[in-house]
Parts: sequence; structure tokens; C-alpha cells
Amino acid sequence: MISVIRRIRDWEPHLRRILSEGLSVGLVPTMGALHGGHLALVRAARKANDIVVVSIFVNPTQFNDPNDLKRYPKSWDRDRTMAEGAGADFIFSPAREAMYPDGYAYRVSESRRSGRMEGEHRPGHFDGVLTVVLKLLNIIRPARAYFGEKDYQQLRLIQGMVQALFIDVEIVSVATVREPDGLALSSRNVLLTGEGRSRAAAFPRYLREMPSADQARARLISEGFEVEYVEEINGRRFGAVVVDRVRLIDNVPLSH
Ligand code: PAF
Repeated sequence: MISVIRRIRDWEPHLRRILSEGLSVGLVPTMGALHGGHLALVRAARKANDIVVVSIFVNPTQFNDPNDLKRYPKSWDRDRTMAEGAGADFIFSPAREAMYPDGYAYRVSESRRSGRMEGEHRPGHFDGVLTVVLKLLNIIRPARAYFGEKDYQQLRLIQGMVQALFIDVEIVSVATVREPDGLALSSRNVLLTGEGRSRAAAFPRYLREMPSADQARARLISEGFEVEYVEEINGRRFGAVVVDRVRLIDNVPLSH
């Protein structure tokens, strides 16, 4: 049965035992509202590690919009069942005050690549992400930590942080999991109405099919999406849109 750890100090005896037995830990950091994309991360962690920890922490410092934080979906009982079903051994779900004893006076910033795309449209977002991921890595001490390619910019910044700060962990990336109509799985999808959900499938389609970023942007706007950005970097096309009052992000490799 899965164990739920709510206090940082309650993880410490488990960690001591795990390390003394020479076992490896795989960490899957999440903000809860788990879906098939998270489960793919848990399954990947299950295959490569002795112990799998899923962290569930809705990290306030990465939300630039307080309403977005308030609306962020929560489904604790379901999350617990899903994490257990996918093979996790522990859920680590600390209180906000425990994770920020300094009141967020100390934080991690990246100064070259974090100001674009998500960073431009969500000021402070990546400071919050990098800071909480560093805290989680320091507390859980995993051999490997798992992140999805849907949040590609996040993934690359976390890889960069680990290299820059000499953190002894392997960052493992896992491919985006999609619905049959192509929509990337995301915790925010549950906020879409039925009509919004059907319209949302056009987002990854135009991102993938339109010949240029400008054409993808124009097509999305003409279909009623509010487009925050469509950009191409290093052979990938990235986009963020709002549909049905729900903000969605995605990215696809360019084949041309
Ligand atoms: O991708 C997410 O769910 C979050 O940004 C993460 C990595 C769990 C940090 O809060």
C-alpha cells in the first residue's frame, strides 16, 4: 500500500533506510490532478528505480495569476489511487509553509532562456518552478527525476539547473501523452467545457500542420483561440493559447 508523507521530517527515516540498503529513488514531481501523462512518468520511474516517490504540491510561487492558483484542479483521493495503481511507493505532499520556511526569500533564477515564451507570459513562473524542484530534489534525494516533454521549456531549464548547480540527479524526459484526437493530456483539460474540449483539439493540429509559426498563429486566431505565442526554437514549434478561459501549452517537433 502507498504511504503518504506530509511532513519533511517524516521522509527522513525512510530516506536513511533506503540509502543504507543501497536502493535508488525515482521522483515524479507533480501538482496533483493526475492524468495519463503523469502515470507515464510514474511507470518510467517504476522500471528504473527501487523506490518511486510522487510529490503532490501545488506550488504557489509558480503561479503569476492568483485566480489560476485558486482554480487549479484538485483530486486527492483519485490521485492517490492512480499513483498507487501506477506503482508509486510514496506520495510526498507537504504543506506550503513547510516548503517555504524562508517565505521565498531565497530562490533560483535563470537569466538566459527563462524570459521567453512561458517566462515572458508568466513573469516569475520559472523562478517558482526551479526553486521548488531544487527543494524537492534536496529533500527526496532521488537518483532520477522525471518530467514530461509537454512542458518542454521547463524540462530544459531543469536540466540546465542540474548541470549548473552540480546536482547529483539524472533528469529523465518522457514523451507527451495525447488523447486520440491529439490534445496533450494536462491537468487543466478538466476545466474545459464539452464545447471547449472539442475545439481544443485543433491547437496541436495547427501547431503541427501549418507550414510556419506565423501561419499557425493566424489559423489559431481565425478559429477563435486567443494566442499568447507560437515560436520555433531548435527544431520545435511551441505554442500557448487560451480557449474556453483555459490556458493550454504544447510543443511539437518540426518535420520540415
Ligand atoms: O510540471 C509541473 O507540474 C510543475 O511545474 C512541477 C515540476 C511539479 C513543479 O511544481
